[in-house]
Amino acid sequence: NDAPVLTIDGPSGSGKGTISRLVAQRLGWHYLDSGALYRAIGLAAAWADIDLDDHGALVRCTFDTRIGFRDDGDELRVLVNDVDATDELRTETAGAAASAIAAIPEVRAALKDRQRDFRRPPGLVADGRDMGTVIFPDAPFKVFMTASADERAQRRYKQLNDKGVSVTLDGLLREILARDARDAQRAVAPLRPAEDAVRIDTTGLSIPEVVEQVLAQVAR
Ligand code: C5P
Repeated sequence: NDAPVLTIDGPSGSGKGTISRLVAQRLGWHYLDSGALYRAIGLAAAWADIDLDDHGALVRCTFDTRIGFRDDGDELRVLVNDVDATDELRTETAGAAASAIAAIPEVRAALKDRQRDFRRPPGLVADGRDMGTVIFPDAPFKVFMTASADERAQRRYKQLNDKGVSVTLDGLLREILARDARDAQRAVAPLRPAEDAVRIDTTGLSIPEVVEQVLAQVAR
């Protein structure tokens, strides 16, 4: 399979979700939101009351859970076992659950092929933490997106507020820093830029500005 892949990795709130979706639309490529897969498995495990120490049960859950994506034009809706769980998956609770199961090597291994299956012509934009390092190491285009922690907390605050989720900016900043630390320090597939990734700091940049910077990478 040699369909081109653009990987966009980075910490939560760096803007990579929004940017990846827009860039995929502009290129007419497929889009993989790998974080949504981890969030969906975290949610399915909670539904099934699976203990986070029971790695065998978590791996079975990873293989058994049906995860579907539907872009309704405005946003990417996520179906977990055929139930639309988009709003529930967006919460910081779901993010923390995702980050906890994402630290388990067997769960990551169980999701590997599922992620690679998204690579189909005419191309794929893959958004996550280890897209450029582990899942698509041979991708011809790699971006590592960052933004200051304050800006990331503010974006997330606005995003959740718009959705009517009640949160505090302070609490969000603390949760974001804790999740970053866990993602960067875990033994398997820690959050780090691929050696051949182009870094884009989105602090202070508008969404269209970042989209153009990323598209310029693919046009090169
Ligand atoms: O990107 P998002 O915030 O939806 O990801 C949720 C969590 O899933 C991250 O904090 C990270 O722990 C995990 N994740 C991962 N590898 C990916 C994507 C997400 O470990 N490729």
